[in-house]
Amino acid sequence: MQSKGDLIQQAFDAGNFRQTGHELIDLLADFLQAATSGAMEQTIPWTKPEAQYRLWEEDYLQEQGTSPLTLFTKVLEHSIRVQHPRYMGHQISPAAPLAALASLVDGFLNNGMGVFEMGVAGTAIERKVIKIVAEKMGFSPTADGVMTSGGSLANLTALLAARSVKAPSPVWQEGQQEKLALLVSEEAHYCVDRAVRIMGWGEGGIIKVPADERYRMRTELLPEYYERARQEGRAVIAVVGSACATSTGSFDNLEAIGDFCRAHKLWFHVDGAHGGALAFSPAHRYLLKGLDQADSVAMDFHKMLLTPAVATALVYRDGSHAFRTFSQHAQYLWNRETDEEWHNLAKRTFECTKLMMGLKAYALLRTYGPELWEQYLGKVMALGQQFAALVSETEGFELAVEPQCNIVCFRYRPEGLPGEELNAFNEAIREAMVEDGRFYIVKTNLKGDTFLRVTLSNPFTSPGDIVEMLGAIRKIGKRL
Ligand SMILES: Cc1ncc(COP(=O)(O)O)c(C=O)c1O
Repeated sequence: MQSKGDLIQQAFDAGNFRQTGHELIDLLADFLQAATSGAMEQTIPWTKPEAQYRLWEEDYLQEQGTSPLTLFTKVLEHSIRVQHPRYMGHQISPAAPLAALASLVDGFLNNGMGVFEMGVAGTAIERKVIKIVAEKMGFSPTADGVMTSGGSLANLTALLAARSVKAPSPVWQEGQQEKLALLVSEEAHYCVDRAVRIMGWGEGGIIKVPADERYRMRTELLPEYYERARQEGRAVIAVVGSACATSTGSFDNLEAIGDFCRAHKLWFHVDGAHGGALAFSPAHRYLLKGLDQADSVAMDFHKMLLTPAVATALVYRDGSHAFRTFSQHAQYLWNRETDEEWHNLAKRTFECTKLMMGLKAYALLRTYGPELWEQYLGKVMALGQQFAALVSETEGFELAVEPQCNIVCFRYRPEGLPGEELNAFNEAIREAMVEDGRFYIVKTNLKGDTFLRVTLSNPFTSPGDIVEMLGAIRKIGKRL
């Protein structure tokens, strides 16, 4: 077999890197232009999972040693285009190209970030980003926090802090002995349920408070559910507010939850994975009224702030609470576990090695200012309203609920279709839409019924695109 030469030297060759990098940027810029302008026919180039896997099995066999550009081109061909104006699916915003470049710098530097020495710039930048977010959320300078890989992990991390502050038993030594619980809307994201079970509180540890007709927590029921839990021997230590709920984009009344938590000395956590970003929009901040009363808030940058996944801010009103959970001795990392050092991130997060997440957000903040996010949020929030109005006035379509943000649930209900066929009909429409590939929308289940669901998080989506989308649904519906 012919020797391949010094592969390490080849893999690190600066000249190769320069050339491939330039070609890659050209490829991505062309892709960006074609995708954002809608010139690309497909938003999702749908294939079945097995067929896609076979494609890559074949690729691995046949493309050994060929240009990496052919690989990247193929990945682009077979990936969903979140930049496309007809992308209206799950909650992820197109990444501003500058933030994607920051991801490249992060990947290239490969700093570990667990301790200060392994992320000198990245750690300080992360802190600055957290401080900016905290200020926008209305917290005082004593607020602080960390960034985590996603909202699910941020919610779990916040709830671990809640436990260490509100029920400081030696859980790390003895396991979970006390019967703890939290209150949360039945419409909350499933990761809160998961977090409770991971913490060992079991099924009874998550108490789901019913939602009203607009899918917001019925906060007037909090005293009743709290009392019932106490009578059953459960110590409620926290309430989680959703800002907003995933399915419908409904915002819980944070002020009411905050008041309840204060009165009962409970931890108040806000899952603002999606809507927490509205702290950057003076026009929409009213939806977060009461947020500054929270003990902790999770907010994703990758959902509503044009930042590549994953990047989440976890902010604590009292920054010192962040240290309570992870006071574990790691001899090789730091000298004293009890020292509250902001600069050693692993003292406050589950993650040891982690991404230089702050850089992605900071690159946008430093270059464009928070006004970029303000403009973007204004645009996508308006799209939500425009789409809801369109659905309401278009024959055969109906809204599940008047939307509060850019998440809108609706369904197609042509005249004459029997009620019992409605769910299967809308499910079939959504499946056909994905297979067709021109539009990407998702679905959800609300109180047992299937609804189509869009998250309008693409600033390139125009009113014309949403009109066309309804037209495409009608056409598919007729065919079905
Ligand atoms: C309200 C809410 N919380 C948490 C999450 C999970 O966030 P991540 O996907 O960043 O883990 C989501 C995701 O959709 C969400 O909508």
